[in-house]
Amino acid sequence: MRVKTGIEELDSKLGGGFYRGSTVVVSGPPAVGKTILGLQFLFNGARKFGEKGAYITLSEPVSKTMTFCEKLNFYDNSLVEDGMITFMDLGPIMMRHNIDIRSVLHEVGLLMDRILPERIVVDPITIISFAVRDAYESRIAILRMAGVISSMSSTSILISEANEMTGIPFFPIEEFIADAVLRMAVQQGDMAKEFERMMQIRKLRGSDHERRWIRYSITEEGIVGIGADVAEVLFKK
Ligand SMILES: Nc1ncnc2c1ncn2[C@@H]1O[C@H](COP(=O)(O)OP(=O)(O)O)[C@@H](O)[C@H]1O
Ligand SMILES: [Mg+2]
Repeated sequence: MRVKTGIEELDSKLGGGFYRGSTVVVSGPPAVGKTILGLQFLFNGARKFGEKGAYITLSEPVSKTMTFCEKLNFYDNSLVEDGMITFMDLGPIMMRHNIDIRSVLHEVGLLMDRILPERIVVDPITIISFAVRDAYESRIAILRMAGVISSMSSTSILISEANEMTGIPFFPIEEFIADAVLRMAVQQGDMAKEFERMMQIRKLRGSDHERRWIRYSITEEGIVGIGADVAEVLFKK
């Protein structure tokens, strides 16, 4: 059973969407559109498919994300007012528990049990890894987080911050535990031209998928223009 992002071209490249109940990691450096993709997944889910969504932020106040989100055409305040989409800020909860991840995750679990969302976005999961001492603890914490949010068969997107130069996540563990990985990047071939935006389905457990880099744009409609693969684009020059 597939869960559509509602971005049609991406769903077709995924062979129909993400698998229901899967943990998806979306990774990339700043400004590639990770947050926009996550929000689009939630708003499309609520509007087109009647699925409840929860957006959990760990890095900035919810009000800031919402102000930014309101400028995008897919944003619909009535879905937030109706409780179809819930914005949650984990920052204060992290502080209250003195960044004790086990307690934080317990509280997240209680919140999720109350809301019962079918789609969850955690933006960014990277903070969890930064908050623990070593790679082992980080792996356990991320697995617990994934466990907490997938316990009621919700499909989740964990946003992972990556190095600007290499595109490799600061904590690759996040990609290892994922059922699916979508990498987002920019490429600047010619300094006098605009940079190109491109994404790659790096991993999709259980199905074949597009393996080339896929070009996309960001407009007030969100992520659009997925289609032409990058190799083709560069070849034409
Ligand atoms: N209305 C818009 N038109 C064109 N590009 C936009 C628009 N809104 C946002 N963007 C692009 O999206 C980027 C921010 O996307 P965001 O999802 O916040 O990135 P990330 O979460 O990966 O850091 C901006 O740097 C800008 O290039
Ligand atoms: Mg972001």
